Amino acid sequence: MDLKNKVILISGASSGMGREIVRILSNEECKLALFSRREKKLEEISKELKENNIESVYKKCDVKNKLEIKNAIDLTYETYGKIDVAILAAGILIPNPLQNFDSNIIKDSIEVNFLGNVYFIEYLLNKMKSQKSGTIAVTSTLPDKRGVPGWGAYGASKAALSWFLESLRAEAKQEYNINIITIKPGSVETPMIEEYHRKGAISAYQAADIIIKGIKKEKKIIQFPFFQVLMTRTMDKFPNFVYDNLDIDLQKGDGYPKIKEY
Ligand SMILES: NC(=O)c1ccc[n+]([C@@H]2O[C@H](COP(=O)([O-])OP(=O)(O)OC[C@H]3O[C@@H](n4cnc5c(N)ncnc54)[C@H](OP(=O)(O)O)[C@@H]3O)[C@@H](O)[C@H]2O)c1
Repeated sequence: MDLKNKVILISGASSGMGREIVRILSNEECKLALFSRREKKLEEISKELKENNIESVYKKCDVKNKLEIKNAIDLTYETYGKIDVAILAAGILIPNPLQNFDSNIIKDSIEVNFLGNVYFIEYLLNKMKSQKSGTIAVTSTLPDKRGVPGWGAYGASKAALSWFLESLRAEAKQEYNINIITIKPGSVETPMIEEYHRKGAISAYQAADIIIKGIKKEKKIIQFPFFQVLMTRTMDKFPNFVYDNLDIDLQKGDGYPKIKEY
């Protein structure tokens, strides 16, 4: 897929991988629509894009709020008349080891990481079904098959998302010519995983580059980095008695991410 002149919507555009995706797309002569909660950050990014002659619109959009998502999609349509590609990268990670087990963490994770994307997809499909074209690329996570200690809230929300996206893929393509892409990053150095260590983490720019190249190739699943894909998919196949006896740092990596105010 050639991204030149394409209209691309990005959720979670204010930080981390979303921010780097915007940076890479600014070299592709596309038209951008940027969303997240921190409108001030989006304004700064949009200003920077304008200085480089890249068209963009932006608006505050909390993915917990269906009306704000509808407004985001309406704004993109009213401005550009179509949406070719949506890259949904908004997400939160709140560790929940047993010592601070709290079902509110699970509720929030499901609301943002799963339902937030479901709402976006609902409105995007409405538009893309009538266009009979479009690509929706959504960020899940690499370890989306086996439970990981302390990451239950996050993992459950992302496993639900991976399953959901896979269930849409064939029908969306065969009946409406819409591509559904699941992005499965391993560890990427972004504010989300500050103070967390896992061997083989890559930079947000490298991750964004892999994501954009994968979208251009119309891959169904974009998973990276290679070494972690190998390790995770190998661990997926371990018999339960082996997996359950692995050291927990080997299962989950070292430490926990710093929890951001949100
Ligand atoms: N970093 C990793 O190692 C890693 C690994 C696997 C998957 N992922 C996934 O990759 C995606 C991007 O994460 P990142 O690592 O780039 O983290 P990040 O730097 O923390 O970025 C997260 C983005 O999500 C937005 N966001 C959070 N809550 C939101 C809400 N309620 N409504 C709207 N936007 C919201 C944030 O913007 P505002 O604060 O402005 O709203 C921010 O732009 C996430 O879905 C994450 O789960 C990350």
